[in-house]
Amino acid sequence: MAQPAQSPSQATMPRHVAIIMDGNGRWAKQRARPRTFGHAEGVEALRRTVEAAGELGVAYLTVFGFSTENWRRPAEEVNALFDLLRLYVARDLDKLVREGVRVRVIGAREGLQRDIALIIEDAEARTKNNSKLNLTIAFNYGGQDEIVRAARRAATDVAAGKLQASDIDHKIFESYLDTEELPAADLLIRTSGEFRLSNFMLWQSAYAELVFLDVLWPDFGKEALTEAITIFRARERRYGGSAPDPA
Ligand code: IPE
Ligand code: IPE
Ligand code: MG
Repeated sequence: MAQPAQSPSQATMPRHVAIIMDGNGRWAKQRARPRTFGHAEGVEALRRTVEAAGELGVAYLTVFGFSTENWRRPAEEVNALFDLLRLYVARDLDKLVREGVRVRVIGAREGLQRDIALIIEDAEARTKNNSKLNLTIAFNYGGQDEIVRAARRAATDVAAGKLQASDIDHKIFESYLDTEELPAADLLIRTSGEFRLSNFMLWQSAYAELVFLDVLWPDFGKEALTEAITIFRARERRYGGSAPDPA
């Protein structure tokens, strides 16, 4: 996840777009429908967004589907969210395989029901040779949890003599993260008008450009994604360097 070498002023496309898909509950509430209705519509927005990301030439799309904190919600809602992952994969996996989408799921596998773990393994295995679009679903994911799990695995390797503590640097540490194979996030979008990360991609967003949109997730699609990318392209990324000389 080395930072790409590029000029400070930037008009390029983001290589890795990460999205906090928020606002399903409020979208449903506005329509006097149950929250689960909003989540179901959220899946439609996800399908549109995956399609749009492919069309726009985004190489990596990572979406936040279920956080390690979302277990605090009522069991009925948690179950509905798990059912939607089942439904999304059942309905779309063949299409994703055909269209060259590589699917990865990041987050803690412990605590997931056996069938969900198998669905995830199957989706990853069936798409492992694809490379057109890298779709990563963060499910049972928390940035702090990911960092703790990485530290634990690195410590286990040190204890086993496979790794020297003094050799641990950024690059080695990153190889223990769930996102080992992904580049750093360039553009991080959050929908629904909230201004927080809610424990998403804490390490990977170190230099991401943050874009907060006032759209509720079920209303998201190509138009909103294009808007976020346009905002991103007008930003100037510095990575701690000094501002460029005015032209
Ligand atoms: C995002 O929508 C989906 C998940 C967090 C799983 P919310 O369910 O958080 O919707 P709001 O924020 O209550 O509107
Ligand atoms: C973040 O949204 C999690 C997902 C989008 C999956 P939340 O709705 O759970 O975040 P908070 O609780 O408003 O911070
Ligand atoms: Mg929310």
